[in-house]
Amino acid sequence: MAEFKVIGVIGAGQMGSGIAQLAAVAGADVRLLDKDAEALLTAKRSISDSVQRFVSKGQISKEVGTDAVARVKYTSNLEDLQSADIVIEAIVESEDVKKKLFAELDKIVKGSAILASNTSSISITRLASATKRPHQVIGMHFMNPPPIMKLVEIIRGAQTSDETYNKTKTLAERFGKTVVCSKDYSGFIVNRILMPMINEAFYTLYTGVATKEDIDAGMKLGTNQPMGPLQLADFIGLDVCLSILKVLYNGLGDTKYAPCPLLVQYVDAGRLGKKRGVGVYDYTKFPKQPSRI
Ligand code: NAI
Repeated sequence: MAEFKVIGVIGAGQMGSGIAQLAAVAGADVRLLDKDAEALLTAKRSISDSVQRFVSKGQISKEVGTDAVARVKYTSNLEDLQSADIVIEAIVESEDVKKKLFAELDKIVKGSAILASNTSSISITRLASATKRPHQVIGMHFMNPPPIMKLVEIIRGAQTSDETYNKTKTLAERFGKTVVCSKDYSGFIVNRILMPMINEAFYTLYTGVATKEDIDAGMKLGTNQPMGPLQLADFIGLDVCLSILKVLYNGLGDTKYAPCPLLVQYVDAGRLGKKRGVGVYDYTKFPKQPSRI
């Protein structure tokens, strides 16, 4: 971790808390920032529980676990990221909000720091344009849940330097991840392919072709996936899926990416998926869903 002693993570939701955990277990000092104090408290509990599960399963030692939990500092103050060598942003999937944050961060962090975004689909080149360091802006797209999933998709913006790419790749590998590299086009690799499948699953439900259970069982058993597309959408967050589809639709200019009206309606109704207790499925009836380790 020589290059990255202090790692800032912004957004303490599902993704940010998992990324902070990875960084802390890898031995970095972590500053986890969220504007919402409640989100920070939830993240603190979730990181501690998750690290404990890794220890119980013998995947990390008790010492590493205790040390990792102590390495994460929680804050709502952007100034606390001044010493960060890299900041990984995992806030809401909105280009305007992310751009505003990148512009503020650019003024606060040291000149050598890398600014990375965990965005699922937003243009890294445009986020970089909000800063005066476009060579040091990169996409670092973790999969959900970050402590478990083996992939990090790295996205090079139009101006991302080789040095920034190599350092970021090394960091992802230190986290134990396999890296794939994508050019900066909407949806990159994984969501470019995954989201149309999820959207089609919603259309299949919307047009009454089958029940949600049969759609998921069909795809799970028929195509050997660990979970069906509707359940996966619930785990990702229906709001996140909708945002990504809008980015694909607008960015690639093809109506095949237009979000299914049923997905839009669920999001309008606050049915955001597992994180809210209800999405396509009702998790309040089955609270014991598989959790991240
Ligand atoms: P989330 O809704 O669980 O968490 C987002 C957090 O960001 C919230 O705690 C919120 O309070 C905080 N936040 C929002 N605006 C902020 C700001 N301006 N400053 C500080 N904190 C702010 O969202 P989730 O699922 O963790 O997604 C975060 C990012 O990761 C999004 O860009 C999403 O597209 C991406 N992503 C999500 C995946 C998923 O499966 N959910 C997978 C890979 C990437």
